[in-house]
Amino acid sequence: MKIAIIKETKHAENRVAITPQVAQQLIKSGHEVLVETNAGYASNFSDEAYQKVGCTVASQAAVLAQAEIVAKVNAPTDAEIELLPTSSVLISYLYAAFNPALIEKLNAKKISAFSMDAIPRISRAQNMDALSSQANLAGYKAVILGAANMGKIFPLLMTAAGTVTPARVLIYGAGVAGLQAVATAKRLGAIVEVSDVRPETKEQVESLGGKFIEVKSDEAAKVEGGYAKEVSAEYLAKQKEAVNKSLFMADLVITTALVMGKKAPVLITEEQVKQMKLGSVIVDMAVEQGGNCELSEPDKTVIKHGVQIIGPANLPATLPQNASELYAKNIQNLLNHLATKEAFKWEFEEEITKGTLICHDGRILR
Ligand code: NAI
Repeated sequence: MKIAIIKETKHAENRVAITPQVAQQLIKSGHEVLVETNAGYASNFSDEAYQKVGCTVASQAAVLAQAEIVAKVNAPTDAEIELLPTSSVLISYLYAAFNPALIEKLNAKKISAFSMDAIPRISRAQNMDALSSQANLAGYKAVILGAANMGKIFPLLMTAAGTVTPARVLIYGAGVAGLQAVATAKRLGAIVEVSDVRPETKEQVESLGGKFIEVKSDEAAKVEGGYAKEVSAEYLAKQKEAVNKSLFMADLVITTALVMGKKAPVLITEEQVKQMKLGSVIVDMAVEQGGNCELSEPDKTVIKHGVQIIGPANLPATLPQNASELYAKNIQNLLNHLATKEAFKWEFEEEITKGTLICHDGRILR
């Protein structure tokens, strides 16, 4: 099949959906890969690198005109949808529940749209799970970003001029991003503490050398399809009580807490920020979902009450080379699962197809 890759146009998006390495493997398995000029440039993949492995590089219109499958990172713009061939297949992030108008437009062109943010959290789909592959990198980058903005170093340092105490890092949420943040902060020498509502994360945190902060409550977050559900206001109050001491001593706070289908829980209020150490840093990774800190702003760094609050909206795009490599592998694995080199299998009742196929042949399925 003919697979088209176009340049991402969303603000500050540096990733590309397919890398030359994955393109080479797709070509080997019998597909053709067409790439828009400069599509991979921002992630350090040149047009020559794509050509070298057998891709055709051409203008966006030329690439899309021939496409049977279009692989993207972000959802297509209206102008791009115009150029998608009728009845072609699109694979990208779509966040369908939040973008009904987009799905209507794709459906009107009979596009079969698979959403990369809807891969079921089951073990056989792990290698297709883009949310995890990107969150992993984002967790790493959040620590680096925090470290670069702090007035102190992470490790304990004993010198002739005196001893430097290690930094204290507090992490909210021990999912994929949070656990990578724990591992990264530990490697840099910090003392790391973690709060999560899923009790099973205690062991995972401890295995990485972090300290899990226990909340004294009979309630624990219910989990559905791998996602934590909302906890009560009473639990959140108890969590605050348990975590505040660590929060007020922290040099760096990384927040990653998300709740399925809801706004991110507010875990750090302005009142709490006021009691944090002068010069401490918060990196709010949940900023796009409303933020875990009530003072964070998307894609901005604000200083409030002497605390620097960083709200990075798209951390994976700041590591575009690795992020594209992993995302491309996720797409390749999904494609291998959904299709042969000649055609899609369209197994509508199969769990991964059912989870990710948003619209098909003029019907909206989810
Ligand atoms: P996520 O991004 O939905 O949430 C991040 C973390 O925030 C979660 O650990 C959640 O429990 C936590 N959280 C929610 N409310 C909180 C609060 N009030 N305070 C502190 N923390 C709070 O989760 P993510 O990282 O996408 O994955 C969560 C888990 O799902 C993973 O650890 C893994 O076990 C599982 N998973 C399984 C996959 C598979 O089998 N294919 C793929 C991805 C995840």
